[in-house]
Amino acid sequence: MLRERSAEAEQGGGAARVEKQHAAGKMTARERIEFLLDEGSFEEFDKLVVHRSRDFDLDKQIYPGDGVVTGHGLIDGRNVFVFAQDFTVFGGSLSETHAEKICKVMDLAMKVGAPIIGLNDSGGARIQEGVVSLGGYADIFLRNTLASGVVPQISCIMGPCAGGAVYSPAITDFNIMVKDTSYMFITGPEVIRTVTHEEVSKEELGGALTHNSVSGVAHFAADSDEHALRIVRELLSFIPANNMEDPPAIVASDPIDRVESKLNEIVPEASNQPYDIREVINAVVDDGYFFEVQELFAPNLVVGFARLGGRSVGIVANQPAYLAGVLDISASVKGARFVRFCDCFNVPLVTFEDVPGFLPGVSQEHGGIITHGAKLLYAFAEATVPKVTVITRKAYGGAYCVMASKHIRTDVNFAWPSAEIAVMGAEGAVGVLYRRELSEAQDKDAARKSRVVEFEEKFANPYIAAQRGFVDEVIEPAQTRPKLIRALSLLENKRDTNPPRKHGNIPL
Ligand code: HXC
Repeated sequence: MLRERSAEAEQGGGAARVEKQHAAGKMTARERIEFLLDEGSFEEFDKLVVHRSRDFDLDKQIYPGDGVVTGHGLIDGRNVFVFAQDFTVFGGSLSETHAEKICKVMDLAMKVGAPIIGLNDSGGARIQEGVVSLGGYADIFLRNTLASGVVPQISCIMGPCAGGAVYSPAITDFNIMVKDTSYMFITGPEVIRTVTHEEVSKEELGGALTHNSVSGVAHFAADSDEHALRIVRELLSFIPANNMEDPPAIVASDPIDRVESKLNEIVPEASNQPYDIREVINAVVDDGYFFEVQELFAPNLVVGFARLGGRSVGIVANQPAYLAGVLDISASVKGARFVRFCDCFNVPLVTFEDVPGFLPGVSQEHGGIITHGAKLLYAFAEATVPKVTVITRKAYGGAYCVMASKHIRTDVNFAWPSAEIAVMGAEGAVGVLYRRELSEAQDKDAARKSRVVEFEEKFANPYIAAQRGFVDEVIEPAQTRPKLIRALSLLENKRDTNPPRKHGNIPL
């Protein structure tokens, strides 16, 4: 009997529906779990649970497991909890018992301090169950919220995820969407057509590329189910199992004292010339390996994980190769969320700074750059993990303060000799300070140039900040890797706190 029931559960919604799932380019829930976890490590819970609904002839449609496979297993030998919605059973829709199964693994994950991975592929609330199903969603949302900052939560969107169901992934730390087969939206194209008369395809509205490049809802766009699951494994390799642990460290094969002379040549002579900050990051981190997060969203700010001397770090870097590395609304929100994740999970922050300021413009102001920019400032200021900053070139205006400056409790601040730390760029400053003088000058161009040179000599360098102690050391760029590793090693046991309070009020 038990064997029969077990076998029945493993068939999901039956061969025909499994075939349909495969034909759509998707793995089944069990195949996904098997691929995700270390071989043979999956321990399943609640395989025999069935729904309780007697309406709409549902009592004649009983599938053991009820459309979600849950349990725990290992990734690189470390415990994780997983739930995988089974689209072959009622379209993976969420019933009362389906929700209970998810809540059970979430509760246990919180108790034992292990990450929760959700593999989402669902038609949403089980329509036949009505409000009971909605209640099930709310039960999950509550747990997502309570688990936030306690254990890492990762969502893979591997099929439909629509309506209120999107709010579970939205609360989790990382969303990985599979290209072409997944989509997320609050209301689909048909409803939008009726309400706003806009024509939009599912893919355009809420496909993987839309959420990775336009909305910023997703953090990774995977080419296939397998790719998405590999991303989960890799992501976990950088982060601890819970907020009480440190991230896993490995023995670095890359020498910790590696001096990289090409860094001395990377910043162009002219300060308005772009360069790719990823070249700097790659040259500094272990084995040149940088695991970028939200690569397609707000490319003017680069964030992601790497290792320095075998230890995980979260990197936040302005990108001079895109919009001159300016901070805008999207970049601020992207950066703030990443900084807060690292702070929750004890991942030290390394900031590379080359920022000309916040993006001017009516749309930015009306869009609330004041509030959104403040998120990044707040996140850096609030963070108590080890914080180290390297100013490679521009550190202008408010953005100087925001980008992990000394003033907001950054522990070690380095600057390259090419650093320019000022209230604004020389051209802008001269325009403000010498407007009258320049308008009266006979040779306006020569007068302006001479004032620009004078301003640059005074402010376009790191030495005034270094004299004040706002920069701890001006370093040769080639020395950046050993200097960062030394600083992070110094800070390994850093302890810092925020004042006792219920919680702060980050400008949301
Ligand atoms: C019950 C469902 C279901 C649902 C799909 N199925 N969604 N059963 N409740 N929500 C069943 C179908 O009847 C079908 O059963 C099987 O799953 C596969 O569905 P198909 O339609 O054949 O698949 P496909 O063509 O791929 O389309 C997938 C889909 C579509 C786009 C997801 O099924 C769909 O639109 N479903 C309804 C979506 C929806 O409106 N959900 C409620 C949203 S509101 P058989 O027996 O034929 O295999 C919501 C609120 C959450 O979720 C609130 C949280 C606060």
